[in-house]
Amino acid sequence: MDYLPSDHVRLSEDGRAVVYLDQSKLPWKEEFKTVTSIRDMYEAILGLEVRGAPCIGVFAAYAMYVAALKYADKDYETFKESFHKDGEYLNSSRPTAVNLSWAIRRMEGLVEDNSSAGVGQIITMLKKEAEEIHSEDIGLCRRIGENGLTLINDGAALLTHCNAGALATTRYGTQLAPVYIGMERGMHFKLYVDETRPLLQGARLTAYELARAGVDTTLLCDNMAGELMKAGRIDAVIVGADRIAANGDTANKIGTSALSVLANYYHVPFYVFAPYSTIDMSTASGEDIVIEQRAAEELTEKYYVHRMAPEGIKVFNPAFDVTDHELISAIITDRGVLRKPYDKSLKEVF
Ligand code: MRU
Repeated sequence: MDYLPSDHVRLSEDGRAVVYLDQSKLPWKEEFKTVTSIRDMYEAILGLEVRGAPCIGVFAAYAMYVAALKYADKDYETFKESFHKDGEYLNSSRPTAVNLSWAIRRMEGLVEDNSSAGVGQIITMLKKEAEEIHSEDIGLCRRIGENGLTLINDGAALLTHCNAGALATTRYGTQLAPVYIGMERGMHFKLYVDETRPLLQGARLTAYELARAGVDTTLLCDNMAGELMKAGRIDAVIVGADRIAANGDTANKIGTSALSVLANYYHVPFYVFAPYSTIDMSTASGEDIVIEQRAAEELTEKYYVHRMAPEGIKVFNPAFDVTDHELISAIITDRGVLRKPYDKSLKEVF
């Protein structure tokens, strides 16, 4: 199977820059970019060149290591202060996916916990930690896939939204992990891919990586999903997550919540896939999740040859929505398949 390389986010050969596949150019161009400044790293996340919650986490870990190299000659207190400042800045690039702050906090924790080690030693540890976050991601996705396969049968027709595949992680994906791991075992699936307006992560990214892996893939506009479910052609809806609150409410790409309502109406299982790093037990419910609002041009102009709305029109463009926990049939994590009531099952596992 032609997987995307697991190093589509990595350190440069000399270890002094972060290299990443620019997802904003897919599928028409496979371009790798190299960044060294924290400002360029911030822009890469904001501009969705690096996107998908776990992938953002891996990128942020490498970014913090590369940032640290700039003040390697400073004393511990100055080093810590600069590191924290860069961390705060990077963390402000996008608010919803918790993996960003999770990875930054993990790197910062290492600096805090090793005040007596000396800055040179801390930098070596930061590099190791970033590499660990990267390799851990591959293992987490693999386990999510294994757990997902306990719910998904050979031959199933699955509907996806956004991209929670290999591109959104560093291999296998979360939502797509059972598909890839099942295929490794000779299973076959039929994938229906929502194009995912307005930034087309489904059409540009999910369709691209599934087709590349040889999966039977059909693209549809977001508003066609109900028609498929009504006709009984979908066995399960599979989605990723950007942040799961302690009660199971799940923030994911805008449109996910509407899909969950459709799935429940038509009695189609609605499954959320996520690693432990996406579960935020400090957020009580979906009401406490900050939803990113994005630029109006993404609706009115982006991906159109000509502007498609009148000048000056008011625009509503949230990047995510929150799916009510009651509408989720199961949350599939690296630590197992969780069922309702999620406040209880999440607490037990996390
Ligand atoms: O705005 P994006 O493309 O970063 O949004 C990504 C999603 O909503 C994904 O479904 C989510 O991050 C899960 S990725 C495994």
